[in-house]
Amino acid sequence: MPVITFANTKGGAGKTTAVLLLASELAHAGHRVTVLDADPQYWMSRWFDASPPIPRLSVISYVTQASIDRHLAEAQAASDYVLVDLPGARSPLLAKAIGLSDHVLIPIQGCAMDAQGGAHVLELLQYLGEKLGMHVPHSVVLTRVNSMVTTRALLAVKGLLAQRNVDVLNTPIIERSAYRDIFDCGGTLHTMDGERISNLDKARENARLYAEEIVRRVPGAQVGAARMAAR
Ligand SMILES: Nc1ncnc2c1ncn2[C@@H]1O[C@H](COP(=O)(O)OP(=O)(O)OP(=O)(O)O)[C@@H](O)[C@H]1O
Ligand SMILES: [Mg+2]
Repeated sequence: MPVITFANTKGGAGKTTAVLLLASELAHAGHRVTVLDADPQYWMSRWFDASPPIPRLSVISYVTQASIDRHLAEAQAASDYVLVDLPGARSPLLAKAIGLSDHVLIPIQGCAMDAQGGAHVLELLQYLGEKLGMHVPHSVVLTRVNSMVTTRALLAVKGLLAQRNVDVLNTPIIERSAYRDIFDCGGTLHTMDGERISNLDKARENARLYAEEIVRRVPGAQVGAARMAAR
């Protein structure tokens, strides 16, 4: 089943948040999801360990360059989607994970430094395509986007991506306190308390649209996709 790797060599671009939201939305919609946590800081694993059991979702920790092939094979056999969370750095693991993926998602905040980290990944994808004939479909998801104003930096990043003909998701991940709090609270947007978290309904809607767009680009198991469309 499809493997989606999240990559940006700049730390803090919003990779783990994007993985967490997609994983929990896909599981909520009926898909079986496994996340491979290949980041030595284990944010994804810590969130998962602090959460009550989440049906259909599992997280595998301690994924390394040496173990990723085996972990991927095991996860693919048991899941409708496998998501890989990478550290924010250039590493041999990055190239290996990309080579094993069906789709690469590049989270980029609307700022120049993040765009540069995203560009490293795009260059690597181009290199693999041109030199090794390994064409891995990929898209950018804009992250931490302000719901009220469009900054000049964000417009510049969008312009750069359009110039390079890079596929950009129509749904950006909006800056929401719910997306920060989820790491502290554990659980998912669907188990959080709407009385305590501001704009939780908007956060849920944003996460749903984001996940639906990815399901359209990277179809997984039919049963899960049908359930998601019917939600
Ligand atoms: N959409 C968002 N709304 C609010 N806060 C966010 C959002 N996306 C990310 N953050 C916050 O920004 C910080 C960095 O995000 P995150 O950990 O997802 O990035 P990362 O790319 O995985 O970082 P690293 O490279 O260190 O693994 C975290 O504190 C996270 O809570
Ligand atoms: Mg991370």
